[in-house]
Amino acid sequence: MIYSRIVGTGSYLPPRVMTNLEFAARLDTSDAWIRERTGIVQRHIADPAQGSSDLALQASRRALDAAGVGAESIDLIVLATSTPDYIFPSTACLLQAKLGVKGCAAFDLQAVCSGFVYALATADSFIRSGQYQRALVIGAEVFSRILDWNDRGTCVLFGDGAGAVVLAAGSKPGVHASVLRADGSQVDMLSVPGNVCNGRVIGSPFVQMNGQGVFKFAVKVLEDSARETLAAADMTIEDVDWLIPHQANVRILEATARKLGLPAKKLVVTVDHHGNTSAASVPLALDEFVRAGKIRGGQRVLLQGVGGGFTWGSSLVTL
Ligand code: UT7
Repeated sequence: MIYSRIVGTGSYLPPRVMTNLEFAARLDTSDAWIRERTGIVQRHIADPAQGSSDLALQASRRALDAAGVGAESIDLIVLATSTPDYIFPSTACLLQAKLGVKGCAAFDLQAVCSGFVYALATADSFIRSGQYQRALVIGAEVFSRILDWNDRGTCVLFGDGAGAVVLAAGSKPGVHASVLRADGSQVDMLSVPGNVCNGRVIGSPFVQMNGQGVFKFAVKVLEDSARETLAAADMTIEDVDWLIPHQANVRILEATARKLGLPAKKLVVTVDHHGNTSAASVPLALDEFVRAGKIRGGQRVLLQGVGGGFTWGSSLVTL
């Protein structure tokens, strides 16, 4: 039986830190409101010269180093992003070139804030089928580029960053189970409803969101998805050492843990200092806790995404 296992993690945050006070200086908002309603204190913002592929490159190099392997040994790159460098080619192909390799399969995956979990489940399936042996799975975003900086309801929530894992074939799981779901009828709740046509932006190039609707939907599907994935792996919440939900809002994370009966000390929270980095949030949080020695080899981690589409999903992994 072939399984896949995470053998290295890496992440990258652009150096520029933006605090809540910078918003309070120019919008009708305050540090207190943002902290109380979201848990966010600061976020990182990419330099205008940096694209998602540049952030992905740094995170990938760190994940490859942690795994002790070179980029030439990777036979599959799956990159989750909603903020690609170009319309085409894919950011995964741009990353492949920046890594200085060629030949391996490389594609982008678009599932907004569920992107990393979707990408991990996709790479896991390819590895378990025997088609590939070693995958680089990345979530990379420059959400700062698709924010209306005058809309206090959205611009305070997001940040930029990238996280990556090396997923390798092995004889033990690894990834125990993944469950992916979507409901396209909820498309209007969270979207960037724009496109480029004849050299002009058609529609809106900025994030539009029904905040309360997203909040309620996220809490419900994160709980359902955790239960469904645990059942698929024949495990219970007691078998989980760490829960890493998509880092959207600390109140969503705490409500999910509470509904699942998970002790607060097992809940990973990084949204306070990363903001919501969409597809990058889960691998960024994973890498931070691995490097801090909090998440250790052999521990079981439940990774969860939820976001535009609507999409949601979970993956239960042993590190
Ligand atoms: O990856 C998924 C991405 N999306 C999310 O995670 C969003 C999930 N939703 C949320 O996190 C929350 O719904 C928000 C943080 C967006 C909003 O918090 P809320 O507690 O649901 O606030 P609300 O939408 O009910 O708004 C309450 C008030 C409103 O004013 P009025 O109508 O009561 O006068 C808003 O206009 O708060 C106002 N408001 C703000 N006030 C100060 C909205 N944004 C801000 C702000 N600063 N930044």
